[in-house]
Amino acid sequence: MTRKILVTSALPYANGAIHLGHLVEYVQTDIWTRFQKMRGHECWYVCADDTHGTPVMLRAEKEGLTPEQLIARVHAEHSRDFAGFHVAFDNYYTTHSDETRHYAEDIFAKLKAAGLIEIRSIEQYYDPAKQMFLPDRFIKGECPKCGAKDQYGDACESCGAAYAPTDLKNPYSAVSGAAPVLKSSDHYFFKLSDPRCQSFLRQWTQDSARLQAEASNKLQEWLGAPGENKLTDWDISRDAPYFGFEIPGAPGKFFYVWLDAPIGYMGSFKNLCARKGLDFDEFWAKGSTAELYHFIGKDILYFHALFWPAELEHAGYRTPTNVFAHGFLTVDGAKMSKSRGTFITAESYLVQGLNPEWLRYYLAAKLNGTMEDIDLNLDDFTQRVNSDLVGKYINIASRAAGFIAKRFGGTLLHTHSSEQFHAELPGIMEAAEEIAGYYEARDTARALRRVMALADQINQYVDKNQPWVLAKSEEHTERLHVVCTLLINAFRLLTLYLKPVLPKLAQRAEEFLNVAPLHWGDAGHLLPPAHLINGYEHLMQRIDPKQIDALIAANRESLEPTVAQSAVSPAPTVAEPHSQQRHAQHQQHTEDIMQPQAISLEPTISIDDFSKVDLRIARIADAQHVEGADKLIRLTLDLGAGNTRNVFAGIKSAYDPAQLVGRLTVMVANLAPRKMKFGLSEGMVLAASDADGKSPGLFLLSPDSGATPGMKVK
Ligand code: 2FM
Ligand code: ZN
Repeated sequence: MTRKILVTSALPYANGAIHLGHLVEYVQTDIWTRFQKMRGHECWYVCADDTHGTPVMLRAEKEGLTPEQLIARVHAEHSRDFAGFHVAFDNYYTTHSDETRHYAEDIFAKLKAAGLIEIRSIEQYYDPAKQMFLPDRFIKGECPKCGAKDQYGDACESCGAAYAPTDLKNPYSAVSGAAPVLKSSDHYFFKLSDPRCQSFLRQWTQDSARLQAEASNKLQEWLGAPGENKLTDWDISRDAPYFGFEIPGAPGKFFYVWLDAPIGYMGSFKNLCARKGLDFDEFWAKGSTAELYHFIGKDILYFHALFWPAELEHAGYRTPTNVFAHGFLTVDGAKMSKSRGTFITAESYLVQGLNPEWLRYYLAAKLNGTMEDIDLNLDDFTQRVNSDLVGKYINIASRAAGFIAKRFGGTLLHTHSSEQFHAELPGIMEAAEEIAGYYEARDTARALRRVMALADQINQYVDKNQPWVLAKSEEHTERLHVVCTLLINAFRLLTLYLKPVLPKLAQRAEEFLNVAPLHWGDAGHLLPPAHLINGYEHLMQRIDPKQIDALIAANRESLEPTVAQSAVSPAPTVAEPHSQQRHAQHQQHTEDIMQPQAISLEPTISIDDFSKVDLRIARIADAQHVEGADKLIRLTLDLGAGNTRNVFAGIKSAYDPAQLVGRLTVMVANLAPRKMKFGLSEGMVLAASDADGKSPGLFLLSPDSGATPGMKVK
């Protein structure tokens, strides 16, 4: 039966670049939609830029652009980056569109008619210099709990406390630096606490087939025990100045960006309908039998599994079939970081000449359909792509193609049959449905493990049959033709199984195989007898570790200019909370827009003072937890030439011992040994942290590649 499926990925904000953290989601969704299309289903994949809100408004202002100019530029950049990673949207639109405005107004009017919109006056911080209300993230001050300076208005990054902006001590506007004043204003609220929303959401989330187990647990927690009412009303309006849609009949009031963002899914699809002659209602009307899936990061589950279905339900539309949440991306075990060079933009990856399908493969090999975080370990990335894709899969074609071309004029055997294929390479064709099941469940990790096990089996077949030996004597010509023909068929099947993940590679393989684009159903048959294949050209290069070093170097930002600057007013930042994408963007904006801040340096020293400190490159030979110490890790440092040192380092909050073993760092090698409760500490390792030492970030120094233990650092 042909299914009708509409799929979305979260709409990226129109004020920042696409980076590897974003790509996890777009690659995951793209694989799934490509798979559905290969299965012959009617599947549409839509997305858009999330264009509204204060950050876009302020960023445009800072760049001397209108918001419309900024979002047009970012739309072109995002479209380029997605295309570069072969993310094949059927429509990549914008929320700043007539269609999205139409559905935002429509949904708002219907919710209002249902008695689910309420106007309430609320008091909020207002920037008297900039004459605007300040979102929580644009108010900074001292944490009411731990006193850390320059904390955001919603939570402290130092001690983790959550609070209201009005709790901050000595608050200031991150936009102008002015002290904010409290001012009241009317806001529109969506009454999520209404018993109708409560009971609908309970029933919607309890449908166990619907949500991932972790998501379902989270929702039960948010909803509370039966009879409890834990949901609170949602503020869906913002005051001018704001870049967004003005609320009809409410001059100076705008829909909050999060109200129109998911509605942007409808807007983008409506726009697609006009282009393709599709029926919008078939997918969105109440009672629709089409399937609707939203792929999102786990941090925006609240918006997609509570607000969004409740809005749709009470505005008379269908609700999502499911919401598929994924975890966050870390690089080499830590949050992406500009200073470490692991905040890697999609653009820089492509500009550095890395193959996008390497990353697609690696991410797919890690994604398993749950909300677990995934780690891009750069050594493992190189190793896995080289050994799986080039060493196992591509190798099959390259081992058989030459013989077919040279000895048989490019023609496969006249007589080969499925029976023979099954007999010599059992299970390869039969795996199709099992692998399809893994793709359907978004367990691409398992799908790829299965495919690579088949690749191993096929390579063993090559080793056993030794075509290069068969080729040496005339009497084995027939057998050589059989073996190579079966191998080309096996390669074709693996290509089909890998195609959702590696669409471009599959396309080139299809050209080599001289076949029409492969569909899943093609796994049920072999190539026709006497099929003519094209000449083989190498299909994929190995990753050279130097390319990874260059990528990291290109993304590493030096902090020197900041240190050299003199003091000015507090740094303005533009960001809103909640998504990983946004956290990363937030970080980016903080770094991009930051004006130099006052820093207090230690007293000046002479070069002679400095040279008293003997800094050396050390390799972490071993790292262990220290029983009874909650901050320390015991490091065994190798200084080369058989010298080791025992050092207790206060880095447990930021590193797991297992992650550290093998890496290089910098140590103070001539520090007087210190007797500690746990043993003797013979030096120290260097790590960067915030000047106040209170922020959680702690970053061990690493030398560029090429440095070896014992080298002097000066
Ligand atoms: O978190 C984010 O990056 C938002 N721009 C996602 C919006 S998803 C959907 F609701 F539009
Ligand atoms: Zn704090």
